[in-house]
Amino acid sequence: MKVLGIESSCDETGIAVYDSASGRIWQRLYSQIEQHREYGGVVPELASRDHVVKAAPMLGEILAEIGSIDDIDAFAYTRGPGLIGALMVGANLARGLAWALDKPVLGVHHMEGHLLAPMLADEKPLLPFVALLVSGGHTMLVDVRAIGEYRILGETLDDAVGEAFDKTAKLLGLPYPGGPELARLADSVTRSRFEFPRPMINRPGLEFSFSGLKTAALNIVRQNEPLDDDLRAEIAHAFQQAVVDTLRVKCLRALKETGYRSLVIAGGVGANRLLRDALDKATRARRARLYVPALEYCTDNGAMIAYAGALRLLHGQHDQSVSDVLPRWSLETLPAL
Ligand code: KG4
Ligand code: ZN
Repeated sequence: MKVLGIESSCDETGIAVYDSASGRIWQRLYSQIEQHREYGGVVPELASRDHVVKAAPMLGEILAEIGSIDDIDAFAYTRGPGLIGALMVGANLARGLAWALDKPVLGVHHMEGHLLAPMLADEKPLLPFVALLVSGGHTMLVDVRAIGEYRILGETLDDAVGEAFDKTAKLLGLPYPGGPELARLADSVTRSRFEFPRPMINRPGLEFSFSGLKTAALNIVRQNEPLDDDLRAEIAHAFQQAVVDTLRVKCLRALKETGYRSLVIAGGVGANRLLRDALDKATRARRARLYVPALEYCTDNGAMIAYAGALRLLHGQHDQSVSDVLPRWSLETLPAL
């Protein structure tokens, strides 16, 4: 089955075709980052308008590669969570195509897309596994018993980890989105004179809190202004280390509580090199395994939506009627396969 997937939940327009028979993927990805940079964050109205402009030409390019739209068997789009106007662009395009061609269409959960992205790698995680979902809007540990059987073990009580990266990067004068920039700066030094707290690691449970780290960063910046390049790099280094330590402690706790031997990292922050290395080492030391998506499938993309959609469409699931897009949507409400 060839499934065309459309991702438009935030500031990336992603269109991809996944062929379940061969595992082959064709994809196009466009990031609107430059448009939003001068505002220091994503402007929802600009995001929706740009998806409208970019989606149709990208679709045309992919179809030219594949041959014809008649080769597509079904359509998938990101139904939520995300920015409502942005979601509607992808949803309407997918539904319009499906209606015109009389093919099935399915609204996919954005976080399920992230969660299953490691399955696009050659070495697929074995079920059941614990997933650490870390993006700009979410931070959670999920018990994945089977596809569609998700139980949230713990999530952030305040900021998402990507948000904490982006806000701290802004304090350090780095351009938006600051996560990757902060990581680069942090990796440019090997030590730091600063120490950040490791929030909530001494309390039982699998909840996270990252707003305190942002406040700690603000205090350190204020106490050390004006910042030179060395100071900024050392602050970034200490911040990243604290985030990674915190995530590592909670991931290991989740593996212990579930008794599972596989850990998956997904979402934009999953591209963080220190996080990948630290979790790889920590899981190996406990005879568990870490599975990560390829870097291109960590941040938002169409392939993960086409893939998650294909798994469900192959089991006969599809939208029964024109359903609303969902700015908020819990993973736990999804049907099992
Ligand atoms: O999953 P994603 O592309 O979009 C959302 O669904 O939110 O995640 C984007 C987030 C941003 O906060 C970005 O700064 C962060 O992921 N990010 C990183 C890195 N690459 C992206 N954070 C830390 N280190 C990175 N290498
Ligand atoms: Zn995402």
